[in-house]
Amino acid sequence: MPLIRWDDSYSVGIDEIDLQHKHLLDMTNELYDAMRQKKGKTVMSQILDRMIEYGNVHFATEERYFIKFFYSETEAHRNEHREFKKKVLELKARFEADEIGIAGELIDFLTTWLKTHIKGSDKKYSAFLKKKGII
Ligand SMILES: [Fe+2]
Ligand SMILES: [Fe+2]
Repeated sequence: MPLIRWDDSYSVGIDEIDLQHKHLLDMTNELYDAMRQKKGKTVMSQILDRMIEYGNVHFATEERYFIKFFYSETEAHRNEHREFKKKVLELKARFEADEIGIAGELIDFLTTWLKTHIKGSDKKYSAFLKKKGII
C-alpha cells in the first residue's frame, strides 16, 4: 500500500506541474516500499540522485513561470526550493558517510514537504498563474 495517494487536494490545476508533483509523490512511495522491504539502503543512493535531479528540473519550471509573470512571492518561494535542495544534499552526504536512519529522515522530510510546500506554497501561486492565462 502506498504511503501517500494522489488526490485533488494536491492539484495546483496546471497539468505540467501536477505531473511533476506526482513524480515526487511516486518517488516517496517507492522509497517507503523499499524501506518496508528492508531495502531502503539499497535504493537510497539512486533515490537521492533522482531527488536532486527532480529539484533542478521542477523548481526551474516553477521559477520560470514566476519570473515570466512577475509573481510577487518569488523570493520567499525560491528560498523554500533552496532549502529542499540543501536538505537533500545534506542527507546524501550523511548517507555516504554511513550514518544510519537517513531513509526514514528523508521520508519524514518528503511527507512534510508534500503537505506544507505543495499543498501550501505551491497552491498559493495556482490562482495567480491561472489568472495570467498559463493554461
Ligand atoms: Fe512544486
Ligand atoms: Fe514550489
